[in-house]
Amino acid sequence: MRSWKVLVLALFATITVMPLSFAEDGTAIKKAMKEAMKGGLNKKVAEGKGSDDDKKALLALYVDMAKEAPPKGDAASWKEKTSALVQASQDMIAGKEGAAGNLKKAANCKACHSVHKGK
Ligand code: HEC
Repeated sequence: MRSWKVLVLALFATITVMPLSFAEDGTAIKKAMKEAMKGGLNKKVAEGKGSDDDKKALLALYVDMAKEAPPKGDAASWKEKTSALVQASQDMIAGKEGAAGNLKKAANCKACHSVHKGK
């Protein structure tokens, strides 16, 4: 009886958690904003406080974000801005000199929002 209840609970938990673990279309930019920008992962890594896993997570967020089209602005500008983020987080992983400064510079909220964020 008890194990039956546990099984049902486990199943229910799997079903409710599952959609969150898939990358949903059209949400990569929002995800990167939530976790890297607003969430502070970018800042943590740029200040040299990020672990190797943090750096890899940051890079993955930016790679996904770069693949998605922004709500506003032209594609060339979007490519330039997101490439700078991808490049700088790659350089952080490689431990390249100047990477932290480039990462901070590339994460310029206002400069990007004014061109690419809808209203
Ligand atoms: C390279 C471009 C870029 C940079 C840099 C950037 N953003 Fe954004 N941000 C966007 C775009 C594009 C959207 C709109 C996403 C959408 O509506 O799908 C957005 C949306 C947001 C949102 C709303 C997310 C949501 O769920 O609607 C927040 C919060 C945000 N950004 C915070 C920040 C902060 C804080 C920084 C700086 C530390 C930052 N962003 C830097 C491009 C950028």
